[in-house]
Amino acid sequence: MKKYIAIALIATGTAAFAHSGVKDPDVMNRMMGMSELANQMKVIGSMAKGEAAFDAAAIDAALAKISEEAGYIPSLFEKKALDPKSEALPVIWDDFDTFTARATDLEKVSGGLVGTVQTSADLGPAVQQIGKACGACHGDFRAK
Ligand code: HEC
Repeated sequence: MKKYIAIALIATGTAAFAHSGVKDPDVMNRMMGMSELANQMKVIGSMAKGEAAFDAAAIDAALAKISEEAGYIPSLFEKKALDPKSEALPVIWDDFDTFTARATDLEKVSGGLVGTVQTSADLGPAVQQIGKACGACHGDFRAK
């Protein structure tokens, strides 16, 4: 589970400079959406790592936000927008149904976790489940 936490934190750290130089507004928008997801993951990840005090209400808020944002992913990617800085793979638009299904998975997984993280022992498995849903889409649709 440590691996997933690390991935989420690394993703957050690189997001800001990955944006620089992006000219296409649609690409910028979807990157901002992804950064927002990474920010919420960081809230949960920092508690999982013991860097922040356990706060069930903050976790539920982050989980609900991730679920809400996940619902917007298909609309953020609906237009085939390209940019030299983009890591989006063209296969997104060849198989938009699968892409949408991955977003729905994240929406359901994170939404389903709301209210279930009651002690710090529940954090690791929650981060792992969400990280898996992020990774399932990145694995097929984002350049590594
Ligand atoms: C349905 C597919 C999908 C899901 C689910 C998904 N992502 Fe992404 N993500 C992408 C794609 C595609 C890109 C590349 C976008 C681009 O560069 O144009 C991306 C890019 C990113 C980036 C880099 C943004 C930047 O500034 O370049 C971060 C950070 C990120 N995702 C975090 C997450 C996190 C955290 C989750 C889970 C909570 C998640 N993503 C879930 C498809 C997804």
